[in-house]
Amino acid sequence: MNEIERAKGILKEYNQDHIVKLFDKIEESKQSELAKQVLNIDFHNLSELYDNTKKKIEIKEREIKPIEYLDKAKLSATEKQKYDELGKQVLENGQYAVVTMAGGQGTRLGHPGPKGTFKLDVYGKGKYLFEILAENLKEANKKYGKIIPWYIMTSKENNQMTKDFLEKNNYFGYDRNYVTLFIQGELPLLDKNGKLLISKEMKIKEASDGNGGTYASLRASGMLSDMKERGIKWIFIGGVDNVLLKMADVTLLGVAIDKKYQVAAKSVVKANPHEKVGVFCKMNGHPKVIEYTELPEKMAEEVDNKGELKFGESNILCHLYTIEAIEKVSVEPLMYHTAIKKNSYIDENGKEVIPDEPNSYKFESFIFDAFEFFDDMAILRGKREDDFAPVKNKEGADSPKTAKELYEKYWERQQENL
Ligand code: UD1
Repeated sequence: MNEIERAKGILKEYNQDHIVKLFDKIEESKQSELAKQVLNIDFHNLSELYDNTKKKIEIKEREIKPIEYLDKAKLSATEKQKYDELGKQVLENGQYAVVTMAGGQGTRLGHPGPKGTFKLDVYGKGKYLFEILAENLKEANKKYGKIIPWYIMTSKENNQMTKDFLEKNNYFGYDRNYVTLFIQGELPLLDKNGKLLISKEMKIKEASDGNGGTYASLRASGMLSDMKERGIKWIFIGGVDNVLLKMADVTLLGVAIDKKYQVAAKSVVKANPHEKVGVFCKMNGHPKVIEYTELPEKMAEEVDNKGELKFGESNILCHLYTIEAIEKVSVEPLMYHTAIKKNSYIDENGKEVIPDEPNSYKFESFIFDAFEFFDDMAILRGKREDDFAPVKNKEGADSPKTAKELYEKYWERQQENL
């Protein structure tokens, strides 16, 4: 049986007859491409994901407790010095690497290219998000006398654009030998009846499988082996869109080392109960982040006896791991979360359909779901004005306007403190 026949057999078995019909309508070279794509899809997993869309994620409050944290601003001078010294040693020994997750689509911002190529209007001339990240890392390199290997995760969709952009901008002065791009995984989209969508190019429509795919992609792309070869012991993983992200915070690193944690994260206090951030907690005795889309209203608003939000430690995508921790989670399956999105497709008569309403499921795993595989983790509370200025939306909260203000104020304060 040739690959086209095999692909058709699988499609029939999994109720995807609309694609079987399409096969006969498309040219031969495309048939073969489509068949290859079909043979690469894990249909069993996909049908499970579809079945899960019918189930509601239940957060049982009694199993959830607030998480313990250290407040960076409240550390004594001696404590801070101890942690900083421990962290500093790792950086000075060249045992530290940074991963930037830049595979997201940035739809909310309405920027047409990869999010890192968005230019924030700061200091007249403006700075690209990738430029701001590069500057933060270059500053650390100067301070600790070693170049931090920088791994940038892209998606199939934006990899080439990201590469071209970085080349054109000469990697913003970062040593080219220390920057590596790798591509994250994808999963097919399904319509509300569990049917695969076909694109204009007569391919099955797939989309990035969420930032939880970072760990498995680090392994599959050979980045993990590369890190081992370079003698890396600690790995920072962060987002692409927070212009105040500190990717080499020696205090955070020192706390993790001192307390013998394999995983650590920086948090900031939630601005208001409904801010769109995940919150740290302990569930069934394990650390966890509950995403803003899944946090029950009652929990979001709950306060403790000091009047502070009970679940107020916000996730700012500032995560730190030992290399052993990454090795461990890179082979663990993470749960998938479902989002409903609008996606055009080609129907079985070969006509393009552009929906008015969200019509398809996108499956994503979340990076922080791996925290549950550990007994505990270190949480260091930072300060919003020093650590968190995300560029998420076109306007309003977390927009270029708010990020610009926070960024410029931060750098003004640094100048004043010199
Ligand atoms: C994310 C966090 C949320 C946190 C908030 C802080 C997750 C799942 N959620 O929410 O808990 O409070 O940031 O700003 O982490 N990305 C990929 N590949 C993907 C999807 C995303 O690389 O398939 C990257 C993005 O490029 C970005 C980061 O992951 O750097 C966060 O993704 P985004 O979709 O912006 O998450 P938020 O909803 O803002």
